[in-house]
Amino acid sequence: MARSTASKTAKADAGPIGPTGRPYHGFPTPPKLTSHGPARIIALCNQKGGVGKTTTTINLAAALAGYGRKVLAVDFDPQGALSAGLGIATHEIPTIYDLLLDSKRDPHDVIVPTATENLDIIPANIDLSAAEVHLVNEVAREMTLARALRGVSGEYDVILIDCQPSLGLLTVNALTASHGVLIPLECEFFALRGVALLVETIDKVRDRLNPAISLDGVLATMYDSRTLHSREVLERVVEAFGDQVLETVIGRTVKFPDASVSGMPITEFAPEHAAAQAYLRLARELVARGAVA
Ligand SMILES: Nc1ncnc2c1ncn2[C@@H]1O[C@H](COP(=O)(O)OP(=O)(O)O)[C@@H](O)[C@H]1O
Ligand SMILES: [Mg+2]
Repeated sequence: MARSTASKTAKADAGPIGPTGRPYHGFPTPPKLTSHGPARIIALCNQKGGVGKTTTTINLAAALAGYGRKVLAVDFDPQGALSAGLGIATHEIPTIYDLLLDSKRDPHDVIVPTATENLDIIPANIDLSAAEVHLVNEVAREMTLARALRGVSGEYDVILIDCQPSLGLLTVNALTASHGVLIPLECEFFALRGVALLVETIDKVRDRLNPAISLDGVLATMYDSRTLHSREVLERVVEAFGDQVLETVIGRTVKFPDASVSGMPITEFAPEHAAAQAYLRLARELVARGAVA
């Protein structure tokens, strides 16, 4: 009798277990910053489309901005979904394409403030799809984005680059410009297919172009705790990446499509929603892990 009470208490003391199998942490509210910059640059990368790169860029950026970080989001996909998701119309305004193609251009020219305090964006539109062709013949073509961001990185605490779904020259530019990479993985069939190639690309960039780049984390997205399938996929991801899998897991919810249509981060569209809370927790986890100031 006494024994069973004791073991129950021990279990309660250990606290709840999160979906990655580690104890659940809330992560503390990030301390206020007294000064800003230089930025840590993080690329959100996965050559698979529809895994949550853009959604994560928008909502992580807004969450960090809400914690007082100065954030620059870079739309690096010609589809321009990041720009649209943050309510920026991209026709007939200067974009990342203009910055890449003109080395004398002041990056401040292409930065647009968003409706969210502390959050700016460099937008993109379909013009960017022509950039690879132009860059191929450039000297140090892999360094173009790194060079372009140098003039503003002192003013931000974090720069998030929303990559396109490919491992081409634009993505290599993003990896070359970055201190860290976040890999969003959808908790679905074949989530891990292609990830080996992505990791290989990161390793090559580390070897040849950017020795300091680190894998900041693998983020499980579109997780549905009610399905065995989602739980199995997450288990497989944890087997493959261990502690590199972030404890914060983003659940599947229709609120994201709704929020994108509104052109607002979910942290503002539905701040009390579990998904908004998840991105706030992701921001706190990344600060706790030292990936962001
Ligand atoms: N956690 C989620 N639950 C449900 N739908 C999501 C979630 N995250 C993203 N989505 C939706 O899935 C689609 C693809 O997401 P997106 O962030 O654009 O992926 P990527 O940038 O990797 O292509 C979008 O329609 C988005 O609104
Ligand atoms: Mg995208």
